[in-house]
Amino acid sequence: MTTIALNTPDFVKHQTIIDWVADIAKLTKPARIEWCDGSQEEYDRLIQLMIDNGTMIKLNQEKHPDSYLAFSDPSDVARVEDRTFICCEKEIDAGKTNNWQDPTKMRATLNDKFDGCMAGRTMYVVPFSMGPLGSHIAHIGIEITDSPYVVASMRKMARMGKAVYEILGADGEFVPCVHSVGKPLADGEKDVAWPCNDEKYIVHYPETREIWSYGSGYGGNALLGKKCLALRIASVMGREQGWLAEHMLILGVTNPQGKKHYVAAAFPSACGKTNFAMLIPPAGYEGWKVETVGDDIAWIKPSKDGKLYAINPEAGFFGVAPGTNTKTNSNCMASLSHDVIYTNVAVTEDGEVWWEGKTKEVPANLINWKRQKCDGSEKASHPNARFTVSASQCPSIDPDWENPAGVPISAFIFGGRRADTVPLISEATDWLDGVYKASTMGSETTAAAVGQQGVVRRDPFAMLPFAGYNMADYFTHWLEMGEKVGKIANEHGNSLPKIFNVNWFRRDKDGNFVWPGFGQNMRVLEWIINRCEGTANAVETPIGLVPTYEDLNWTASDFSKEDFELVTYQDKAEWEAEIASHKELFDRLGERMPQALIEKQKVLLEKIKAEM
Ligand code: OXD
Ligand code: MN
Repeated sequence: MTTIALNTPDFVKHQTIIDWVADIAKLTKPARIEWCDGSQEEYDRLIQLMIDNGTMIKLNQEKHPDSYLAFSDPSDVARVEDRTFICCEKEIDAGKTNNWQDPTKMRATLNDKFDGCMAGRTMYVVPFSMGPLGSHIAHIGIEITDSPYVVASMRKMARMGKAVYEILGADGEFVPCVHSVGKPLADGEKDVAWPCNDEKYIVHYPETREIWSYGSGYGGNALLGKKCLALRIASVMGREQGWLAEHMLILGVTNPQGKKHYVAAAFPSACGKTNFAMLIPPAGYEGWKVETVGDDIAWIKPSKDGKLYAINPEAGFFGVAPGTNTKTNSNCMASLSHDVIYTNVAVTEDGEVWWEGKTKEVPANLINWKRQKCDGSEKASHPNARFTVSASQCPSIDPDWENPAGVPISAFIFGGRRADTVPLISEATDWLDGVYKASTMGSETTAAAVGQQGVVRRDPFAMLPFAGYNMADYFTHWLEMGEKVGKIANEHGNSLPKIFNVNWFRRDKDGNFVWPGFGQNMRVLEWIINRCEGTANAVETPIGLVPTYEDLNWTASDFSKEDFELVTYQDKAEWEAEIASHKELFDRLGERMPQALIEKQKVLLEKIKAEM
């Protein structure tokens, strides 16, 4: 057997990494190894390689400078939740909402799968930092991958490059991440445009903090810094170390008087986090400013005086393209003006990208995401088609988005996609009530994950697919953080962030959305900020504090009191059914469910019966 040359470059001085790379190469048997340095030259070369291989095309360079479009295999378009595993020693530590497998058994399975899986391919070694390079809050990962698409995308989504090795030095800590598309090439075998494998494994070992991903090139399964490290593994670290890793956007909002608040908001995948993070205040909100810190993930840490500070560990946006246009999110469209990697959108004859909702008119002679001529019978872009772009290109990026100290959070917002039941906005009466609201959040499923779409499922904290440990323990962690940090905050004259629940997606009896959403969400955001300032009214209802029509600012809006009633009414029968289904969730989560939430469910049900 020939052993492959490691060719370790001078910039790598970390023996554990060198030994680990050698071990993985021995197992996966690639044709060659490339230690990535994150340079422009390397990026350009890999893009050219993918163009030559047919993975991507170069777009019209006048309309889309330095931008490219990749077409995936039609079977590899979303996260695979049923193939995502948490492999800790004890099943109960993974909990009922995660797929658990015994780590020893999983290691044997993966050894088998990874044995020779990179044959004929280049194995890339990708150093990256989640969080600003060298910051005390950042965590470093090394991803080994056989996908040039992953390398190019990681360069946009994380701080990727050889500077990471300077920070690691000879023995710095890193999370080892191994990824393969799972399609070895026999001698002389011609490659396909988007190699992948029908069998997929997205595996996390929380105890040893390792990530192994096999069979998919899709971002959420293959860019391992994002969902795997920054959420699943980081949530485990956060629990151990007293902080939070959350599926949240972070935005800053400044009022005309110059007072700024930051809020962090959790919504399930493909429910508008990117749009909300880049909101443009509507007419009537002159003098207000919304700035973007992050659109998907927040790491939140308490300060010594009991405030919660959040950072965005990512460096880019991996957003859903369909529905994005200059009206729904002009900041996003401006971010996409150059240097973008698109995946699975449609393309016009002259190399311009298009997706459903980009323009009213569908351009003639479109090529769809399956690389076929559009005949109108199917969508031109995949509903989960994506763009990958550096956050620094966003016109609304916050001046503090890379501040290693993070930004202080005034409010948490939780929101699901619900056609009925849940009103536009309500405020939790206290931390426990807020944790209850977030724990029981329901949402209709979207195209971001493989599976049936549009069915309501409980998605606690929008973390159902991303908590790296038992969801009941995760609730306990939130409750304990509230207790500990709340006490310190009190001692310093500070308070915990307020918690709110929103629903932009309520529908009328004909199935139409009633709330206009997008920029109009500013009206809700203003009320939230004013509640934090103590200057807005609310009325108490059995499900929390809510504004009346008069409590929101309707300047330059024709949204009537009747419309408001449609997005805010509380229906007793719907709420009885809703709260009853919370019990089903709690029962399912099992013995580690915190008693305080179990009690809260009973009290709420009684309250609704008596008072609604
Ligand atoms: C994402 C997701 O890609 O949540 O952010 O699926
Ligand atoms: Mn997400």
